[in-house]
Amino acid sequence: MKIFKRILWALFAVFIIIQVIHPKKNESTEVLASDISKSYAVPTEVNTILAKACNDCHSNNTRYPWYNNIQPVAWWLNNHVNEGKQHLNFNDFTSMRVARQYKRLNDCMEEVKEGGMPLSSYTWIHKDAILTDSEKQTFNNWCTAVRDSIKARYPADSLVMPKRKPESSK
Ligand code: HEC
Repeated sequence: MKIFKRILWALFAVFIIIQVIHPKKNESTEVLASDISKSYAVPTEVNTILAKACNDCHSNNTRYPWYNNIQPVAWWLNNHVNEGKQHLNFNDFTSMRVARQYKRLNDCMEEVKEGGMPLSSYTWIHKDAILTDSEKQTFNNWCTAVRDSIKARYPADSLVMPKRKPESSK
């Protein structure tokens, strides 16, 4: 029993100690030239959807909940934000090559249609991020519209992602 108590105290001590270690927050309101809205129209209703359902993990500005002050929760959230931003950052969208922008918009439509995004661990707490059918429709129409403007603006071969392996010649 004594050893059990000691382990509990040790765990408690670790919990207290890690409270002072915080990852750097993802908080910036600077509008970059590579922001998606600088190159493509983002209507208000789409902005609302992005703000409540995507931007906490896919932008440079996360709205942190109070429990971000508790470790190891902050690390867990920080991980989601970093990983999410690596895949897609609406505040830095056009710094990706055109083919990737074009593909990401397609990924967005698929994720939203299939319910992969926003993450379920997120909608579990952020109920307002659960998109209604009409919001999904609005979002997907917008993705299509942006894809169309990309297609109109750039030559067709710039929209194709380069293949990792060369295709066998037929
Ligand atoms: C709680 C954080 C979080 C929220 C909110 C969120 N995402 Fe993500 N997203 C991630 C993470 C983490 C990844 C990378 C890992 C993965 O694919 O699951 C990702 C990946 C993606 C990808 C790339 C998938 C691929 O094929 O590589 C797309 C596209 C995407 N998210 C779109 C969205 C859209 C659109 C929304 C809003 C409707 C959204 N996400 C909301 C965290 C989030």
